[in-house]
Amino acid sequence: MPEAICYVNGQFLPESRAQIPVTDVALLRGLGVFDTLRTYGGVLFRPIDHLERLMQSAARIGIRAPWTVEELAQILLATLERNEFPEATVRILVTGGLAGGQFATLGANEPGLIVIPGFLSPYPDECYRDGVRVATAEIERFIPEVKSLHYLPGILAIHSARQSDPDINEVLLVNRHGRVTEGVVSNVILVSGGMLITPGREILEGITRGVVLDLAEGLMPVIERDVYREELAEADEIFLTGSVREIMPVSNVDGVAIGGGGCGPVTRRLMGVFREVTRRPQARQAK
Ligand SMILES: Cc1ncc(COP(=O)(O)O)c(C=O)c1O
Repeated sequence: MPEAICYVNGQFLPESRAQIPVTDVALLRGLGVFDTLRTYGGVLFRPIDHLERLMQSAARIGIRAPWTVEELAQILLATLERNEFPEATVRILVTGGLAGGQFATLGANEPGLIVIPGFLSPYPDECYRDGVRVATAEIERFIPEVKSLHYLPGILAIHSARQSDPDINEVLLVNRHGRVTEGVVSNVILVSGGMLITPGREILEGITRGVVLDLAEGLMPVIERDVYREELAEADEIFLTGSVREIMPVSNVDGVAIGGGGCGPVTRRLMGVFREVTRRPQARQAK
């Protein structure tokens, strides 16, 4: 596999030589935002949605990103053209930029821009066939609507959950009010009585989640509401959504089997509909 060609602050560089200044506040203070996209058939899926979310994330935490979504889309395409991945993941990061003398430099800095393409390695087939094991943990993401570089609580939660169950695939976050919000790197959707139920606030609005909810409209009722931890064990089915993960059934939460314990019929149906969309070129680009 040839080395990835990355984009860093105006230059295309092989990954091993792609570097940012050591005084970038993304490194010093974790100040930055990012987004992860993927391709289907070599074409980026919903790039405008991802880039709009990236820009909103930056604006929300005071990073003045000077690019338009169209300019960013061109940079993504130019990066992909320099690479030969049959199917790629693409991370795009907006960093806080070079540190000034003061701590409170928000908005004053010129932000950095990084694009890191990579070979897309899908999750194993068993995850989709049998479902995955997840755990819950009492964790809240800081400004959850923002996809910031700060993932420490989630990383620690996954590490801790895997100490007792090495097969844990994802951890669901439960806030101080006992509400399940999302996964560390995914959104969560329950199937209950033929309805889709998913938390609608204090989450990162996943692009995959949005596509799935749109697809489900007309097929079944979709309800966005608060979901409490106790409801998980009662659900007929649970699945996770994410750009690389797509739709992934959950078989077990905190050691309790969900529904029949594998991939339920509603999840399977949505996986089929989702697959159709990702195969249709126009639907990949649609907003
Ligand atoms: C916290 C969080 N929630 C949800 C998601 C899923 O978002 P998407 O479907 O846009 O990949 C992610 C993706 O990384 C995430 O980090």
